[in-house]
Amino acid sequence: MLEAVERKIAQYIAELEDPDAVALYRRLPAGKRLRARLILTIAGTGLPAVETAAVVEMIHAASLLHDDVIDDAFVRRGEASINALYGNKTAIMFGDVLYSKAFHELVDIDRRIARVISRAVVQLSLGERRDVLLGERFNPDREAYLGMIYQKTASLIEAASEAAALLAGKRPEPYRIYGRNLGIAFQMIDDLLDITQPSEVLGKPAMHDYEEGKTTLPYITLYEHLDEAGRAKLVALHGRRLRPEDQAWILAKMQAHGVLERYYAEARELVEEAMALMEQEGEPNLEAIARKMIERNY
Ligand code: FPP
Ligand code: MG
Repeated sequence: MLEAVERKIAQYIAELEDPDAVALYRRLPAGKRLRARLILTIAGTGLPAVETAAVVEMIHAASLLHDDVIDDAFVRRGEASINALYGNKTAIMFGDVLYSKAFHELVDIDRRIARVISRAVVQLSLGERRDVLLGERFNPDREAYLGMIYQKTASLIEAASEAAALLAGKRPEPYRIYGRNLGIAFQMIDDLLDITQPSEVLGKPAMHDYEEGKTTLPYITLYEHLDEAGRAKLVALHGRRLRPEDQAWILAKMQAHGVLERYYAEARELVEEAMALMEQEGEPNLEAIARKMIERNY
């Protein structure tokens, strides 16, 4: 099903008539293609759905190229990132190429689809900026964090689901909520795996979020449970390289306070709500996608 999307993206890249862009594109690992999968599952494999899926995946890829520069991340999907291989300038410029070509194609698909997707990309950009701002110091505000992950991650997944429903002539509302819940839960699981999984499984360094300054929800919840000395220690570790004993301390405290189980249950609740909606809409394949997401370990 996804081959049609891969072919469409390859066609868009070939249309650039630029050997350098083709070569860089070949170095990009495809990833899970979650957004494309959602679009085709909701809207089928007609041309507008395949084009929308290709555009959304290109925008997503562009955003990750920029994100790895912003985050100083040298590993993406288990492989050296484009910024690690060719430097920040190349990663930014290739991101711009993917992003602008995607928009060029988007305007020809359908005005409603273009509006839904472009609105989400504004949110995506604002979300990335908020992520960076929140990372400047320890952030104990869970609402601020939830708002940021909605913007940074859930907005494009929500838009992909809504756009696909519009293409298919389905009622967009349940699909929008499905996408939003899935997107927030996706980021929550990402944040959890950063803490619980070893780097070999993650394909990137473990517990890197906190070192980078990201006070993800498990850290906010832990902070709420700690006494004053514990809070001071946690805040002092924020944004620093964590020694193995620091990592062990954080993990032990999270386990002692049941932070990770509760957090996983929260993400699971969002996914279950999404699955229930899709059961009502008679969409078993979308239920399956949601279930798989909550059960992943990387
Ligand atoms: C990954 O977050 C980043 C995003 C989901 C969004 C990034 C958005 C931008 C850079 C702005 C939009 C730019 C364009 C060109 C459309 P993360 O760092 O938490 O996840 P990671 O661990 O996968 O890096
Ligand atoms: Mg990142």
